[in-house]
Amino acid sequence: MNLFISGGAGFIGSNLVNELIKFKDIKKIIVYDNFSSGKKWFLKKNNKIKIIKGDIKNKKKLNSAIKNTNLVYHFAANPDIAAAVKNPDIDFIEGTMLLRNILEAMRINKIKKIIFASGSGVYGDKKNEYLFEDRTVTMPISTYGASKLYCESLISSYANLIGLNGISFRFANVTGDNCTHGVCYDFVKKIFKNKKKIKILGNGKQSKSYLHVSDVVSALVKAKSIKNSGHKIFNLSTKDFISVNEILYLVLKAFDLKRIEKDYTGGNKGWKGDVPVVRINDQKFRRLGWKNKSTSKQSIIRTINFLIKNKNNYGF
Ligand SMILES: NC(=O)c1ccc[n+]([C@@H]2O[C@H](COP(=O)([O-])OP(=O)(O)OC[C@H]3O[C@@H](n4cnc5c(N)ncnc54)[C@H](O)[C@@H]3O)[C@@H](O)[C@H]2O)c1
Repeated sequence: MNLFISGGAGFIGSNLVNELIKFKDIKKIIVYDNFSSGKKWFLKKNNKIKIIKGDIKNKKKLNSAIKNTNLVYHFAANPDIAAAVKNPDIDFIEGTMLLRNILEAMRINKIKKIIFASGSGVYGDKKNEYLFEDRTVTMPISTYGASKLYCESLISSYANLIGLNGISFRFANVTGDNCTHGVCYDFVKKIFKNKKKIKILGNGKQSKSYLHVSDVVSALVKAKSIKNSGHKIFNLSTKDFISVNEILYLVLKAFDLKRIEKDYTGGNKGWKGDVPVVRINDQKFRRLGWKNKSTSKQSIIRTINFLIKNKNNYGF
């Protein structure tokens, strides 16, 4: 089996690639990435991996790179939800269009299965309400969430029109080795720069689930052997949650910092488009036998330790 992984040098993509090289039935992994946030040092050296530096907007290069592969994982997208405030087109161009180009390249090359990284952003702000794939009304409050929802709809349409098989995962926040964004990354980077004062986005009470990337990888690996027809959508989360203030406490503890001036930007959201409280029900995927190994707190601690250990690689 040959795999095509868009955004395979990024945070989640690189962790998946580093796991998939262990599988005997996988002969080749094409990592297609423009390296806008991806890094070469995230990927293990292995001759199953072929790295192609390219943009998904470059259809000619994409069509040729995807040839002779049997399964596509699609991760490439703008990772910064707040970027749309200054650049409202970003999630259309670096989200929706990218998936459209991928689906067309798959249609032309007769590739039948895609596994897509969607997100809980498709639901919008539902306060403390638990989110279910098949009954919660989707009402995104960011162009990032809107783009993910449109991408899911496109996969459903291609499934119906050309018999594509699709699996979309609506992930909670993902954290862990190789991360390049998110609250842990932000705090650790800031503290390396200034141990006296730290800026915290919002009021610190935002409360969400944090999945360790290794648990995401185990779900993504499982998804490749699910024999589905059409398009299936699964939430993926931990069963618990943690607040931004609790995360800051864990970061300060790791740095052995007893005192720091906390400068809250205020309001209940970190940025425009942020959903401050997220509660996800992921029983649908758990029923297939998947379980997370790390709780939100354990995921955060593992991430902080990884970032501190790799400070030189990150350039902190
Ligand atoms: N990290 C999370 O918490 C989280 C949560 C839910 C969903 N997701 C989704 O999972 C996917 C992966 O997220 P991530 O956190 O690994 O982000 P990431 O930014 O680390 O990975 C994205 C990769 O895609 C590449 N890329 C971006 N635009 C490209 C383009 N036009 N052409 C080619 N390559 C391009 C980047 O260089 C990067 O390597 C994204 O689609 C993201 O929206 C992430």
